[in-house]
Amino acid sequence: MTSRPAATGGAPLHGSAGGVVPRHVAIIMDGNGRWATKRGLPRVAGHRAGAEAVRKTLRAAVKSGVEVLTLYAFSSENWRRSEEEVSDLKGLLGYYLERELDELDREGVKLRLIGDHTAFGPHLVERLERAVEQTVHNGRLTLVVALNYGARSEIVAAARRLALQAADGKIDPASIDEASFGAELMTRDLPELDLLIRTSGEKRLSNFLLWQSAYAELLFVDTLWPDFDEAAFDAALEEFAGRQRRFGGR
Ligand code: FPP
Repeated sequence: MTSRPAATGGAPLHGSAGGVVPRHVAIIMDGNGRWATKRGLPRVAGHRAGAEAVRKTLRAAVKSGVEVLTLYAFSSENWRRSEEEVSDLKGLLGYYLERELDELDREGVKLRLIGDHTAFGPHLVERLERAVEQTVHNGRLTLVVALNYGARSEIVAAARRLALQAADGKIDPASIDEASFGAELMTRDLPELDLLIRTSGEKRLSNFLLWQSAYAELLFVDTLWPDFDEAAFDAALEEFAGRQRRFGGR
């Protein structure tokens, strides 16, 4: 295992079984719709099954010693879906929080949000923020839920903030570097992304964590998200442990 560049915040850890455990895993949970269609069910049934897969995956992540699990639950492009599907996804998120929050809290999970969740309406916003508040002191695993998130707009917002600071004479443009840019992103205080998984056989990043995935291992699996479970998560960690990471060196 080669070491990370200094600015990238520490290397993955060795787990109890001797393998290298990624500190930060992110997942593009794809394939809910296809899972439902294959069964002649409405798309919402796929999302419901997808929420169950979230539960199983989270449990596996806690057990494995992963520090941060980031899930792409709703992209800024997902607003283009039908009004009915958007409403189903919002409802499901609220229901999941209602049902799982105390359990997450007991398990030591800290909930964090990235993206602009304020677009989801006062009821869900209130629930989300209450959940974040309730779990803020937990330290076993941080669950980052990306809601109304888009990486390009995250990067543009960071650039705009730095440009404004420079225009105000608060910073010297020449002093802007990867570390100061990274510090303007929503993931600023999270460990570097180690492993990015996308399910359902699609091989794209779809505007997810574009800056953060610069050195991440990418893993594309054919499993549709609702079929993803503890065993699938463990298999992904095993694949990660077997890869030799170079960070551009030899
Ligand atoms: C992609 O499948 C999935 C989503 C857009 C939503 C993910 C949401 C969940 C798993 C539900 C709840 C989430 C949490 C955090 C509790 P798709 O609909 O694009 O599938 P398709 O490509 O087969 O149509």
